[in-house]
Amino acid sequence: MADQFVPVLRWEERPEGPVLVLLDQTRLPVEEVELVCTDVPALVAAIRALSVRGAPLLGIAGAYGVALAAARGFDVADAAEQLAHARPTAVNLAYGVRRAEAAYRLALDAGTGDASAAAAALTEARLVHREDAEASARMSELGRELLDELLPGGRLRILTHCNTGALVSGGQGTALGVVRAVHQAGELRRLWVDETRPLLQGARLTAYEAARDGMAYSLLADNAAGSLFAAGEVDAVLIGADRIAADGSVANKVGSYPLAVLARHHRVPFIVVAPVTTVDMSTESGAEIEVEQRPGFEVTEIASPYHSDTRGEAGAGLTEQSGAGIPIAPVGAQAYNPAFDITPAELVTAIVTERGVISPVTRENVSGLCSTSRKG
Ligand code: MRU
Repeated sequence: MADQFVPVLRWEERPEGPVLVLLDQTRLPVEEVELVCTDVPALVAAIRALSVRGAPLLGIAGAYGVALAAARGFDVADAAEQLAHARPTAVNLAYGVRRAEAAYRLALDAGTGDASAAAAALTEARLVHREDAEASARMSELGRELLDELLPGGRLRILTHCNTGALVSGGQGTALGVVRAVHQAGELRRLWVDETRPLLQGARLTAYEAARDGMAYSLLADNAAGSLFAAGEVDAVLIGADRIAADGSVANKVGSYPLAVLARHHRVPFIVVAPVTTVDMSTESGAEIEVEQRPGFEVTEIASPYHSDTRGEAGAGLTEQSGAGIPIAPVGAQAYNPAFDITPAELVTAIVTERGVISPVTRENVSGLCSTSRKG
């Protein structure tokens, strides 16, 4: 965001050693609070608690996490394992971790010493960060051009789900980056923001970004989307992705798949915007994507605090039993809480990457565009 008060993530050299400072997204939009990670367990806790979240940013954070471990003299292999497995679905996380780890190993094997190897990991993390910003800028252009082709004339009403903006990216974001470009071109009539139950990334984060950018937006409960389509009020759906399999299936925030079904029924383009780092050619199909299951209290309570201390130190982390939020179900209620769902390729109109647009979304077209991508 142009006038962002607190950067979503930054590396800081302090007298006691380097730290990774994160904007705690669990506190938004009420307050902008920084979390200071001095070690990898704190960063892993922040990732699990969704203080830092969204596929591209997870990759960036993972890479800086390896650099942090190296700079502070922790076991880098162990740190990389912990980070890469902190959340299972977004492939970008392991990608960022493995890139920084590989740079560290390469320098170490070349005999440059620990300090130079740590510096190599940090340089690589900064590169992952910058590349994501560049990818984001390119996707915004390509996505806007695609919308111009599919829906000439502008004044679009775009529906989005979850949060895919500057809060999850080195740049302006993926799907929300495209929406921003449309808005800046004066072609956005309205952004429909799904609140995105259960953790409200749409209400708390996308609305926060949209408001700061001066977009005309309306928030809706996820289950209001059907009537919005039926009323002819949606011109296009734009979402991000956590992992795209080789067959073009898309894992994204739970609730994306029902939108794809609605979009198909109402003949509305359903567009996925994601960097090539989100495409995982080693995952053959959507059925192979591991979908993260989250604790039930995220469904049975609202406003559960993940971080109990208020000193801005990450680390309190995720506990299975919260009990500290406001109950919205009877005590002991069981919950079904997958973080993501899978949209089959045939429901996706196009995937916009920084290398180009995949449409129709077929295994051949995905492979043609992405098979040379670097993966960890
Ligand atoms: O559980 P989250 O908040 O990390 O889920 C994020 C999403 O599902 C985003 O849509 C996805 O990571 C794409 S972000 C550009």
